[in-house]
Amino acid sequence: MKILSKSLEETEKIAKDFLEKLALSSFEEATIVGLYGDLGSGKTTFTQAIAKIFGIKEDITSPTFVIEKIYSLENPFYHNLIHIDAYRLESTKEMHALGWESISKNPHNIIFIEWPERVIEALPENHLKINFKFVSENEREIEI
Ligand SMILES: Nc1ncnc2c1ncn2[C@@H]1O[C@H](COP(=O)(O)OP(=O)(O)OP(=O)(O)O)[C@@H](O)[C@H]1O
Ligand SMILES: [Mg+2]
Repeated sequence: MKILSKSLEETEKIAKDFLEKLALSSFEEATIVGLYGDLGSGKTTFTQAIAKIFGIKEDITSPTFVIEKIYSLENPFYHNLIHIDAYRLESTKEMHALGWESISKNPHNIIFIEWPERVIEALPENHLKINFKFVSENEREIEI
């Protein structure tokens, strides 16, 4: 489904709807969400909206230079929100260095990955996918 967001508020609403629908998924491993789209298309902004909904107060800056950030959640099901920016990763080997095997297996983790195509071999084929597209200065197409 393609949705046109015309503002940050609309992107937050789309993030909220996305999380609410997730409650229907099954949870045997981590919930892994690949955020696809060009530079500036809204991947970090979407993750910030998700963090806000989970009540995370600290700034969710783009983890480009950090690569991985883990936030503890006060949530009965999801215990950690993990934000990975794979832009600077050269290979899936580097995912292993981030502890990918264990974090991706823990059903209490919800993981958002920017630039998932960089590490696609490490991701389960059936991970959730969201596509972002720049439309105009304040508009982004979000396909869930
Ligand atoms: N409707 C909208 N929804 C989301 N972001 C928007 C919207 N309109 C404008 N923006 C702006 O677009 C920018 C998106 O930047 P963001 O850092 O989220 O992109 P990104 O996809 O993470 O890029 P990168 O690949 O460089 O990490 C932000 O500055 C945000 O304020
Ligand atoms: Mg980003």
